[in-house]
Amino acid sequence: MRLHYTNFSFFNSFKNGVAFPFLVVLAFPLLVQQQGCDPEYDKPPKCTSLTSPAPGTSDIGETVTLKWAVAPGASAYKLKVTSQLNGELYSGDTGAKTEYTLNNLVKNDRISVVITPHNKHGDASSCSEFSFTTVKEMMSSPPGCAEITSPANGATGVELMPKINWKPASGNPSGYIFKATSPNGALNLNYQLGANVTSYEEIGMLAYEQEVTVSVTPINDAGQATGCQSITFTTKKAPPKPEPPSCVSLLNPANNASDVAVNTSLRWNRSTSGGIQGYIIKVGTAPGEADLVDTSVSGSKTSYKPGKEFPHETKIYVQITPFNNLEAENCIEESFTTEKEPQTPPDDGGGNTVDPEEPRYVRKNIAELNFNDPVLVTYRRAVELMKALPADHPHNWDQQAKIHHDHCPHGAWFFLPWHRAYLYYFEETIRQVTGDDDFALPYWDWTKNPQIPAAFWGDNNPMFNPTRTKTATDTPGDSYVGEEEIDDILTIEDFGLFASSESRSGALERTPHNYIHGWVGGNMGYVNSAAKDALFWCHHANVDRLWAMWNEYGNANTDDNKWTDHIFDDNFYDRSGNHIDISVADVASTYSLDYRYDTQSATEPQTAWQSLPVSYEAIEGLTFVKGLFGKTKISEPFTVNMEPSADFLNRLNDLLDAPPGDVPEAAFLFIDSIAPPMKEDVFINVFVNHPDIKVSTPVRDRNHVESFGFFRMGAMPSQGGGHEGGHDHGDMGSFIFDMTPTLRAIREATNAPIDKIQIQLIAVPFSGNAAEAMFSPGKFMIQLAKKS
Ligand code: C2O
Repeated sequence: MRLHYTNFSFFNSFKNGVAFPFLVVLAFPLLVQQQGCDPEYDKPPKCTSLTSPAPGTSDIGETVTLKWAVAPGASAYKLKVTSQLNGELYSGDTGAKTEYTLNNLVKNDRISVVITPHNKHGDASSCSEFSFTTVKEMMSSPPGCAEITSPANGATGVELMPKINWKPASGNPSGYIFKATSPNGALNLNYQLGANVTSYEEIGMLAYEQEVTVSVTPINDAGQATGCQSITFTTKKAPPKPEPPSCVSLLNPANNASDVAVNTSLRWNRSTSGGIQGYIIKVGTAPGEADLVDTSVSGSKTSYKPGKEFPHETKIYVQITPFNNLEAENCIEESFTTEKEPQTPPDDGGGNTVDPEEPRYVRKNIAELNFNDPVLVTYRRAVELMKALPADHPHNWDQQAKIHHDHCPHGAWFFLPWHRAYLYYFEETIRQVTGDDDFALPYWDWTKNPQIPAAFWGDNNPMFNPTRTKTATDTPGDSYVGEEEIDDILTIEDFGLFASSESRSGALERTPHNYIHGWVGGNMGYVNSAAKDALFWCHHANVDRLWAMWNEYGNANTDDNKWTDHIFDDNFYDRSGNHIDISVADVASTYSLDYRYDTQSATEPQTAWQSLPVSYEAIEGLTFVKGLFGKTKISEPFTVNMEPSADFLNRLNDLLDAPPGDVPEAAFLFIDSIAPPMKEDVFINVFVNHPDIKVSTPVRDRNHVESFGFFRMGAMPSQGGGHEGGHDHGDMGSFIFDMTPTLRAIREATNAPIDKIQIQLIAVPFSGNAAEAMFSPGKFMIQLAKKS
């Protein structure tokens, strides 16, 4: 309460443009004494201290007289008295008097006193606070109720993200139980808040005209307040209906195109009107007909892949109609003509078929290169030469690593394209500084060859990095980088779940990528310094390779143009050391950057761009959120009971019972804003409904959902980072998990419906014993979603 209150008034003074009260020196001219030229009194006085009651006294009754020592040179004293239960009790000037009497103090209170002596030269600076407490009364009864002051009971037209305020309860509450529910179950919050909290504003975005009931129940040792009134309010009405959206036109195939493949997909430009809910797609063999396709897709899409091929040599009519609440009007129908049926087998010996070009550079598995392979010779030379460049040269080794510190996006959907571009320009830099124009960066396949490759060891080897915490014979955990795990990741269809979504880490980033950073340790364990270890580049080449393979297996990247159109502005340096821009679209395929991995096809397969992105949309009303406060020991399992509604569980069991394969629905878990322990290197295993979780519970346990690591901001503790070096917010992780397979396995094995959702986290140290350090669990959300 005390801290909260202080902050509050501090910001208010600022906002209102009021100067700090202790700057108003001239308000008391009569009290200013002449002090001659004694240098002591040419400046503001020093602070004084409270002599009575002695600070820390704990049995003060209803009345007390504050007394303090005379501060030499002071002409008057400013006094500020704050009560933990009742806020500010006094704030003013006592003149030259050194005492002040407080009346009507209440029990179980904590009183804080700040005395600021001042004179014509100003105020004593930042005087400390003294405090004492009033008589303590054991709580034999629960606290009183807390009156909710806003929104008012019955209020209508409330904002969609309301702030709930209440008055502190009497009777010494130790906390408040905050509940917010809606009649349809879409909202179901139940949080325990601290004693000093008197508002809550993280309910999230409510629907229009949503009825919400809120209760705040004070609690203490003796129990919960009883008979407290809840309030009910209704959010505002939706704004008036939008105008119908503008029409769109076909990009592929183009209007009037001929010889179009019968398995073509349709792509169009995004409607320029806001709030598009979807597009109606009608395709037919005659104008105005929809005999081939009659469907609609969500507004986030700009493409559609028909379920079956179009007829050969046919004129196809396409009408795409964007809609919000209204449909676009008078959109033009477009058309194209499909290819002829192939008559003869393709020419295989005539020599006049043109092969698509193969990329010039092939990135190879470092395990297959011997120590004197030209690739490794160049790599070692490059590291030496780059380290020898002037410190501010763009190609200097540490400058290249600094790019990572300055710009790299983690826990975000630019994770893959940014690192692809980073590797690309690093490779170009190596070609430039060594003059070896054939150089292609090798990759470290930690699945096939899990130990840190031999190329990175050896005392005089510039690729050796002494900060690593692992040796040449250590092996990373199979559960995080092994074949089964990587195969699972490669079967994920949605780009965000596979790699990283707009603001959360998906599987590839959070599991093998983060794990390897933390496991290798040293420079590699921290964002600031990771790229100082030559191993970084080969680690990321493997991450990049898995992305390329995922595309080759027929998975499409997101087509959201917030992603594709994004430009990495001046993040990188080209071969001449100039800053350069590159967009996500520029790096979406390795082939267009003129390289491939030795595991990719020699020329770009058609699969990737023919398929369409898969994504999910939340099913309305089936989201549950739990915010968690405080900290938990990393050595103890941590359980969150999500308390889903009966409706949620019914829908969940229905979707689990549907035959796997063609299930268009999934259950997702989101963990947001989880802060790692500062120094301990741990990996966190996530389980659901496990009866007895331990550090040793294997990740192949039926109840295991997934695992994640942190990739910490800041520098290594030994390099002045660690505890102080971390950026509070940058350090936090946000993750997305698909719980469907785990829940389905539990459902099948127990032959009973899922009747609760308990999320359990257990931290597993990379080495050594589980530390006592704390980490803060953040916000947990489960959501049922359907493929869109
Ligand atoms: Cu931006 Cu693996 O790092």
